[in-house]
Amino acid sequence: MNEFINTQKVGNQNINGETTWKSPSNIALVKYWGKYGRQMPANASVSFTLENAFSKTTLKYKNGTGKVVLFFEGEKNEAFGAKIEKFMQSVEDINPFYQELDFEISSTNSFPHSAGIASSASAMSALCMGLCEIENKLFANLSDKDFFLKKASYLSRLASGSASRSVYPKLGQWGEHPEIEGSSNLYAIDVHESVDPIFHTFKNSILIASSAVKEVSSTLGHKMMNENPYADVRFKQANENLAKLMTAMKNGDLDTFMQIVELEALTLHALMMTSNPSFILLQPSTIVMIDSIRKFRKKTRLPVCFTLDAGPNIHLLYPENIATEVQKFIQDELLELCENGVIIEDQVGNGSVKC
Ligand code: PMV
Repeated sequence: MNEFINTQKVGNQNINGETTWKSPSNIALVKYWGKYGRQMPANASVSFTLENAFSKTTLKYKNGTGKVVLFFEGEKNEAFGAKIEKFMQSVEDINPFYQELDFEISSTNSFPHSAGIASSASAMSALCMGLCEIENKLFANLSDKDFFLKKASYLSRLASGSASRSVYPKLGQWGEHPEIEGSSNLYAIDVHESVDPIFHTFKNSILIASSAVKEVSSTLGHKMMNENPYADVRFKQANENLAKLMTAMKNGDLDTFMQIVELEALTLHALMMTSNPSFILLQPSTIVMIDSIRKFRKKTRLPVCFTLDAGPNIHLLYPENIATEVQKFIQDELLELCENGVIIEDQVGNGSVKC
């Protein structure tokens, strides 16, 4: 039997409690784009866990029948609540006890909703950390810290694939890979100790090219990979890129790191452009910023590179020790290209925490 299945019942225990967790967003270095079956990734991926972009979620729970009422930023949000209720029903084979409780969930994001930062990773991982805490309170089955995180990552994956990586500090890796010990399609693992410490304090300045809601959701984007003519080549390339990236990160090899990270970002968007129907999430200002970053790097030889999420915003990545020079470059050349001059300053962070 799957080690994550817990068929224990609440029964006639009198339940009434509350728990709050904070969990961050993450930015993928090798991208997950394409899935199969029950949220299985078509290729392995790895991401920096962020620090400042997080969701904070309080779960109040009591005896009930699986009903969810959700407040987002203080306001009742029926659509989001229905989504969570559906998710909890969908994992009834794993945790049937959710259907014996009612939940009042209040969630807030540290970043503006309209900033174009993916919120599903932080929101779903914060929710699942809370759910695991409740499970452990009721059944004392997750008292081993590593197993607690593994189950939280497993549940987060079922809620939103990339959320599986957010529970871990600094660097989360998800997806089975022959060269990564302990890797799995079912949950992410913490790989930060296998890389050079220079990556433990990396900076991430998020340059907002557009905060408009994406035309194509990531759910639809993953689905389109089923028909993408380059899919098989891509899945193979991603696994190769992951092996090369992990070696580069282990050796503190910033040149190879930057080369692979940028290639991954542009490949993700190339896959969108070659899907049917084809779509483009980049904005003209995204391209201007990329050009400017590459020119700056060539001129100064400073190790600064970019990555992109499924959207137009640039995630500038650089080691902490060149922050002053990079901040000046941002002010001089990139700020004017950002929508309303919006930049969100973030950095590698420590994963989910209980409040
Ligand atoms: O977890 P999802 O289904 O929102 O997909 C995330 C996909 C990317 O953010 C584009 C890449 C990644 O690995 O995070």
